This record gives sequence, C-alpha cells and structure tokens, in this order.
Amino acid sequence: MAQLYFLIYVSIASDPLGNERLLDILRASRENNSRNDITGLLLYKERRFMQILEGPETLVCATYARILGDPRHREVTVLLKGGTAERDFADWAMGFQDLNDEVERATPGYSPFLDAKFSVFEFASDPSRAHKLLRIFRRM
Ligand SMILES: Cc1cc2nc3c(=O)[nH]c(=O)nc-3n(C[C@H](O)[C@H](O)[C@H](O)COP(=O)(O)O)c2cc1C
Repeated sequence: MAQLYFLIYVSIASDPLGNERLLDILRASRENNSRNDITGLLLYKERRFMQILEGPETLVCATYARILGDPRHREVTVLLKGGTAERDFADWAMGFQDLNDEVERATPGYSPFLDAKFSVFEFASDPSRAHKLLRIFRRM
C-alpha cells in the first residue's frame, strides 16, 4: 500500500475572498480530492489560509503542486509534512471553516488557540502547533 502522507501549509489570499469564490475553491477541491483519495481541512481567517492535505504521498505532492501555482493565493509555505499512520480527516474530501464568521467564534469548542494568526512566523518555532490547531476541528 502507498505510504500515507500529510502536508500542512499556510498562504495569503491574493484578494479578500467572498463566499462565492471560496465555494468555487471548495467545489473543485472536493471533486478532485474524492477522485485522488485526498482528505483534509481548509481554514480561512483574515485573508489567510491554513490547509492540511492527507493521502498517498504521490497524490498529496501532485495536489500541492497544483495548489502552489494557484494565483488566488501567494506566499504558499509548507509548515509541516511527513508520513503518518492514519488520517485525521478521513471523512472529509475537504472540510472547511471560515473563522472570520462571528457565529463560528461563538461555537462551543472554539478555542483561544485559534486566535493565532495563520502566518509562517506564528508557527515557525513549533510547527506541530499547526497540526494541533487543525485537529481541534475534528470534533466540530
Ligand atoms: C486555498 C486553496 C486550496 C485549494 N485546495 C485544493 C485541494 O484541496 N484540492 C485540489 O484539487 N485543489 C485545490 N485548490 C485548487 C487548485 O489550486 C487548482 O485550482 C485545482 O486543483 C485545479 O483543478 P482543475 O484542474 O480540476 O480545475 C485549492 C486552491 C486554493 C487557492
């Protein structure tokens, strides 16, 4: 069986993205990811993305290569990647949370941890914090 792999990156939206344009990204992502055996989660906050991709290594890398070249965001930077024994987001072709949404912020389980800015510098000293942050959403 192919090695199970994960990759976490952060990036900055080229323009502030409204719901329609976020939905465009999600629709294409879910369609492609279902076909490619990729699962994961995409977070969006204050114009910044954080995403985890998980699946067979070659497919995660091919998906990331496409994402990297997407003009809808810039400064795409990997925080953490590697082999993993199991998926954290097995049920999600691509989960999504818009953390700009006040309703989300009022949700039980919303953690002050999420007040972290999704920047490379925020996670540089301990990238595993990004993994912990994403995992909070498994329960939601
Ligand atoms: C923040 C962000 C996250 C994305 N996530 C995914 C993803 O998980 N899977 C995917 O296939 N494409 C994703 N994309 C879209 C890709 O960059 C690219 O547009 C798409 O894969 C091309 O698909 P198509 O050839 O079917 O049009 C994402 C784009 C952005 C800006």
